[in-house]
Amino acid sequence: MQKQIDFTEALVRFGPLIDAEIQAELAIELDDWMRNALYYHFGWMDREFQPIEKGNSGKKLRPVMTLLAYLGAHPAGFEADLSPILPVAAAIEMIHNYSLIHDDIEDNDRERRGRATAWSIWGKPKAINLGDCLHVLSFRRLYQINERGVAAERALRVGQALTETSIRLSLGQHKDMSFEDNLAVTPAMYLDMIAGKTAALISCATYCGALVATADESKLAHFAEFGQKIGLGFQIRDDILGIWGLAADTGKPTGSDIRRRKKSLPILFALSESQGQTRERLLEIYRRTDAVTPDEEGFVLAALEECHAKEFTQSQADRYKQEAWEALTVAGGGSLNEPLVQLKNLCTFLVERSF
Ligand code: IPE
Ligand code: IPE
Ligand code: MG
Ligand code: MG
Repeated sequence: MQKQIDFTEALVRFGPLIDAEIQAELAIELDDWMRNALYYHFGWMDREFQPIEKGNSGKKLRPVMTLLAYLGAHPAGFEADLSPILPVAAAIEMIHNYSLIHDDIEDNDRERRGRATAWSIWGKPKAINLGDCLHVLSFRRLYQINERGVAAERALRVGQALTETSIRLSLGQHKDMSFEDNLAVTPAMYLDMIAGKTAALISCATYCGALVATADESKLAHFAEFGQKIGLGFQIRDDILGIWGLAADTGKPTGSDIRRRKKSLPILFALSESQGQTRERLLEIYRRTDAVTPDEEGFVLAALEECHAKEFTQSQADRYKQEAWEALTVAGGGSLNEPLVQLKNLCTFLVERSF
């Protein structure tokens, strides 16, 4: 239970600061409908645009990691002033959320965080535009660092990191979609795809946290590597939840990855390990492009079970957690201060979570 407590503590501590920073951005020159629709997406309003007390606005892992990396790299540790890093943390969470609004269109998913996705309520054209707007708002928030004491050269580098990351994320998403009707996807292609769609932003979160906190250039690459490695583990765990997760826990529809013929790691493993008739039928299901029937979904689940795909996939997530821990220790100069210990503990949650 310790790992859950660690995560919750960081969220209780930082969550309201992150929300306030995003809300401050949405308060500036936005059309009421756009602001309300974004409030709906973030879980702060219902679909009738009435405020809600305790909506699910996501785990906020990326901005929490930004803040912990910042505190961990800062000479003042937990005593450091958070105001220079909050716009960065908020911008990263806004980029994440724009990517989710678009991802649900791209994956045809009608549910996220236990409620209807923006496109399923207002249609795809408006949801695309809503996501576009949030993406650009994230950069407008980022520019606030100029007024929070971050030196111009650092601010530019943070901007460049977020820009490059946005590009990598889009390329990763493109690969994910392209793989839906490609049977020749290899584990290396899969890793390259998730490095872009997911690990890039998590790596950007830990890198930028350190970039704003320290002038010690030698640490930065290790903070980036730490985020990259745990980002891979995080997405691999997400692939497990995409097949075996419970909708009541994840807030997302169960089985969507199988229905979309996503080449997630458990599926790639089953496609390479299964034999005989199981293999023939699996290949037949994944070769076609028409709808996957409930019967076929059941067959895919049984084939995954037969070759222990879940155990293999979890072992890969655990491996990336170990590699992330190694990078973090190097980033910490051989030992971990208190914020970095929290970051380390968060990793266990990231690869073992059920939501
Ligand atoms: C979902 O990310 C998308 C992935 C990259 C797997 P999260 O699981 O962090 O989503 P929220 O923000 O907590 O809902
Ligand atoms: C995660 O995509 C990456 C982004 C949203 C950019 P997925 O499609 O794998 O994530 P979920 O399962 O819908 O959250
Ligand atoms: Mg998706
Ligand atoms: Mg997707």
